[in-house]
Amino acid sequence: MDKNQELKDRRSGSMLGGGEERIKRQHSKGKLTARERITLLLDENSFNEIGQFVEHRSSSFGLEKNKIPGDGVVTGFGRIHGRLIYVFSQDFTVFGGSLSEAHAAKICRIMDLAMQNGAPLIGLNDSGGARIQEGVISLAGYADIFYRNTRASGVIPQISVIMGPCAGGAVYSPALTDFTIMVEDTSYMFVTGPNVVKTVTHEEVSSEDLGGAKAHAEKSGVNHFTVSNDIEALKLVRELITFMPQNMDEMPPSPTKFSFNRSKLDTIKKILPENNSLPYDIRKVVDSVIDDNSFKEIHKDFAKNIVIGFARVEGRTIGVVANQPESLAGVLDIDASRKGARFVRFCDAFNISLLVFEDVPGFLPGTDQEWRGIITHGAKLLYAFSEATVPRITVITRKAYGGAFDVMNSKSIGADLNFAWPTAEIAVMGAKGAAEIIFKREISKANDPKEKWLEKESEYAKMFANPYRAAERGIIDDVILPEETRSKVIAGFKMLENKADVLPRKKHGNIPL
Ligand code: HXC
Repeated sequence: MDKNQELKDRRSGSMLGGGEERIKRQHSKGKLTARERITLLLDENSFNEIGQFVEHRSSSFGLEKNKIPGDGVVTGFGRIHGRLIYVFSQDFTVFGGSLSEAHAAKICRIMDLAMQNGAPLIGLNDSGGARIQEGVISLAGYADIFYRNTRASGVIPQISVIMGPCAGGAVYSPALTDFTIMVEDTSYMFVTGPNVVKTVTHEEVSSEDLGGAKAHAEKSGVNHFTVSNDIEALKLVRELITFMPQNMDEMPPSPTKFSFNRSKLDTIKKILPENNSLPYDIRKVVDSVIDDNSFKEIHKDFAKNIVIGFARVEGRTIGVVANQPESLAGVLDIDASRKGARFVRFCDAFNISLLVFEDVPGFLPGTDQEWRGIITHGAKLLYAFSEATVPRITVITRKAYGGAFDVMNSKSIGADLNFAWPTAEIAVMGAKGAAEIIFKREISKANDPKEKWLEKESEYAKMFANPYRAAERGIIDDVILPEETRSKVIAGFKMLENKADVLPRKKHGNIPL
């Protein structure tokens, strides 16, 4: 046979993965194939495959007679918006996308290249887990991947998309990466599936309830983004990449075109309610400061009392962290602290400046929070901000109480600029509670204790429920009108463009995990 023809035949054979029948089955579940996914993910005709003819080396259970080129994962490199990207895409039509020794080695090769060349790694996961016929060898393959995920953490951005099963130890690769995207109805993640759960704990639970996109978006926080199908998932990766640099030594893409609707300068004046105990949506404040339609919220269904996401000011990427008065009054609890801390660390690792909006009444009280370790988890956020060397600006819109004031990117923990609106209340605690404690005797001895309490409350509020005590001490840098926020933030980040700050020499810190 003509040698060139042989190559062409081998190529087209490998394109079919597990064959037409299994491709049909994949489509009937609403899923795309591994190759279709890569085509949609990358710029047109930019994919270069590596390892197309790799086969497994197993001879157990008759596997030697069943070899499919590529061995259940398509790997290679390509471009997203012209930028170099490495990708692996598991092929469920080949042994259920299960991970063999050879399959793992292909993924590791791509990861090594991504690290050596400083470009993001995208993993499209759709796999029945360890290749059962190979046993322990495939377990070692997983560990090889986990090791590389960890080594790559903070060096190159890593994004995992879950587009089918992801069970057992396999879940730990996505967990080690920076962002996880899950497709509704067709993906799930769990350490042990419903059958094992039933045997061990006698709980009856479906795959979807146990580890579907919604469960992980709302309850565990494992899932950062829920999307309704494969196409949306791949579009989202393309969008996320636009906010990130290629690696830790680069800056996020330089200013892209932007617009800012100036009517938002009017809108921002009217967002806060007259009554300072009423809620409002902090996302309206964020939206009124950043470039039009530039906010990409992350983890939006998890710990709604804190809002995080990428945004742009004058075209440049920033990371936004904001208390959300609309949910639990914006209080900090365990989940909010974990959510905020992880995002702050991503931004700091990849040279993304941080903009914090603060309206926080404090930490959430109660036995549940204390016994589950709000002390340790709250400290994560404190640690993450304290450690961050990127430019950092805080805007206090309303409440900034107690320890939560310190934690939310205060100047004492290294923020570069802190602004407060005239509505800011910066104090140890709310006036009501404060009056009750420090004027306890006076109130109890009064003819009308309730009236006395009110009088003392307003005395305390007058003293501290404003930004000026803090401004007098330089604890905040300026009191600004809401409509001045955008221009102050832009000027601030410009001023901080060449900020150079280094951490003390150490092997690594010991964040309160
Ligand atoms: C080898 C596998 C496989 C596996 C699926 N297949 N999982 N082959 N090893 N782990 C094959 C099937 O034999 C079948 O082959 C094809 O993939 C499609 O599988 P189906 O069962 O027909 O598909 P579906 O009904 O959609 O069910 C998908 C599934 C199920 C839920 C993933 O296949 C399943 O439960 N698989 C086993 C999952 C598992 O227990 N994995 C090991 C977990 S332990 P044919 O030829 O018929 O198309 C683990 C440890 C990792 O992963 C530890 C890391 C530290």
